[in-house]
Amino acid sequence: MQTLAFIHQKGGTGKTSLAIVAAITFAAQRKRVLVLDSDYQGTATRWFETVGEAMAAREGWPLVVRSEVQSDIAGALSRYGDRFDLAVIDAAPSLTETTVAILRAADLLVIPIRPALPDVWALEPMTTLLAGRDIPVRIVINHYRGEDLVVIDGELDALGMERVAVIEADTRIPALFAGRSPGTDWPWVGAVMDRAVGSTPASQRAPLTTT
Ligand SMILES: Nc1ncnc2c1ncn2[C@@H]1O[C@H](COP(=O)(O)OP(=O)(O)O)[C@@H](O)[C@H]1O
Ligand SMILES: [Mg+2]
Repeated sequence: MQTLAFIHQKGGTGKTSLAIVAAITFAAQRKRVLVLDSDYQGTATRWFETVGEAMAAREGWPLVVRSEVQSDIAGALSRYGDRFDLAVIDAAPSLTETTVAILRAADLLVIPIRPALPDVWALEPMTTLLAGRDIPVRIVINHYRGEDLVVIDGELDALGMERVAVIEADTRIPALFAGRSPGTDWPWVGAVMDRAVGSTPASQRAPLTTT
């Protein structure tokens, strides 16, 4: 099972929305997808319980959302492991023991940022935690409405990062929470997955320490 984590210690950058959209896109390709909702706010879980489960049944998507707010992410993944092809973790907006557990478990990190400098600045503790580790990171600019990205790109560059996709502000995202299918035409999902990786899956990496 591959594990993808949507993570950023800042709230409101699009982790939950993009995790659900990516999960739907993969499930529509017949991959069995588990979304692990690691945020105590439980937005992804609530989406599933209120409208998502019915949407998945209607569309024939093999998609399940489960809440996992304890830090034992690896335990949760191994509990569900055999039944899914892909796990998508929706992380809480924090940098905690659970964040470290997610970094250990993930094969790929997707970090959504809004096109604003504070979202880039808030990445600094995470980049410190990731320094020297072979974890592939994909930065995506989310909720884009024509902002100038030159300064943002410069700041990302200074952190040793680059964006791989720009996702526009899109009414399909708020509508998703009201039960409307967002469809599966989301090219950024492929862009995030397709980039040459050249790094090691979580199962083969050295343990992550926080010191
Ligand atoms: N690309 C987008 N277009 C329109 N609205 C968006 C987009 N991405 C996120 N949103 C909205 O922004 C809000 C915060 O997104 P959310 O996914 O909950 O962020 P996070 O999980 O990082 O806190 C939600 O109301 C969501 O509907
Ligand atoms: Mg969220």
